Amino acid sequence: MYSRRFVVTAAIFCVLAVMGGGAAEPLHTYLTYSDDPTTSIDINVFIERKVPKVTLFYDTESRKGEQAKYAQQMDLPYIQTMLEILDGRACYVAALKNLKPNTLYYFVVGDEKYGYTVERSFRTLPGGNAPLRFINGGDMGVSRRTEKLLKLAGEQDPDFGIIGGDIPYSNGWLGEYKDWERWFKNWDKYMVGRDGRMIPIVTAVGNHEVNHYETDRLEIKSPDYLSLFGRQGSATYHSRRFSDDVVFFVLDSGHLAPQDGAQAEWLAQELEKYRDVKYKFACYHVPLYPTHRPYDGGGSELERKCWGPLFDKYCLTVSFEAHDHVFKRSKPLKGNQVVENGTVYVGDGTFGVDPREVDPTPRWYNEKEGSYAHFWLVNVRPEGVALKAIDEDGNEVDAFTLR
Ligand SMILES: [Fe+2]
Repeated sequence: MYSRRFVVTAAIFCVLAVMGGGAAEPLHTYLTYSDDPTTSIDINVFIERKVPKVTLFYDTESRKGEQAKYAQQMDLPYIQTMLEILDGRACYVAALKNLKPNTLYYFVVGDEKYGYTVERSFRTLPGGNAPLRFINGGDMGVSRRTEKLLKLAGEQDPDFGIIGGDIPYSNGWLGEYKDWERWFKNWDKYMVGRDGRMIPIVTAVGNHEVNHYETDRLEIKSPDYLSLFGRQGSATYHSRRFSDDVVFFVLDSGHLAPQDGAQAEWLAQELEKYRDVKYKFACYHVPLYPTHRPYDGGGSELERKCWGPLFDKYCLTVSFEAHDHVFKRSKPLKGNQVVENGTVYVGDGTFGVDPREVDPTPRWYNEKEGSYAHFWLVNVRPEGVALKAIDEDGNEVDAFTLR
């Protein structure tokens, strides 16, 4: 007979083995863009400690994790980030270039001491005017509702997800990093394409990515967010051309960079540069047309003043807003008036957080509004852009097409 102590010890080992899932691997592995999404991708890898060498093995064929069989390999450069101060975790980024468009790539990445990932995959975007599909939402958190919505979002098989800020609600405090851990775990679990590929993440910064420490140093104001997502552009706002027909302007609603001044000047230049692109989208945190907070709120008013006329001048197609924790679709707007072919503003960031109330009388600029959690699914085709809002039970709560 086994002793009681032996049985208990063996049981604990079994539980730990199941929880641990076997071999060690990097802490986080996730995809972002810092260049042309048809030929490049950034594989971001966080490892428990700084190590001599982190290696990526990749190929257009699955090699089932057998490192020697992958056609390509590269050693990843170490990137110093503020997250290292948390517990010594170190960042490595494979900024892959010259990839083939519309191609599934398989990879494993990691190091000898802390282990390698299982085989993972990503797909480069097709480019040209091929159809694109993406999901958008903001104000996520890490609740059960967030998981339900993320699962539904992953099931749409998007090419990428664009998040309009207030991501896990860690508030720029390294002490709240556990929320990012859970957020990445959720994204990894649910945001998986039908072919098993990882879904790249595009982000705008929200107020809950920033702490209240009084400093001008952005990497101290937002140490976690900038460590994780600060490489998408040279500032906390950036543009991304996803295809011949699609360009995104991802803006900072004054959380790390003021909306006016340099950012507004940059936006004017970028809109001019991409003026002939068929579908122009913007994404940022604080809405120009809020649906819970007051219309004359400071951030909204300032953005209507310094971004609104630019959106109008260059005929922005759709603007993805967040922060107010409600659902809304505006009427087509231009010059703060309802017009036939204006910009449609959708939002407002309830991709997991509790929905807030809307006024009993709808705001003059809204076509639809409501107090429910949702995300947006966007299908872009040469003949038009189709948007759907999907709630946490999978119901389609809105659908419209812009041609
Ligand atoms: Fe917010």
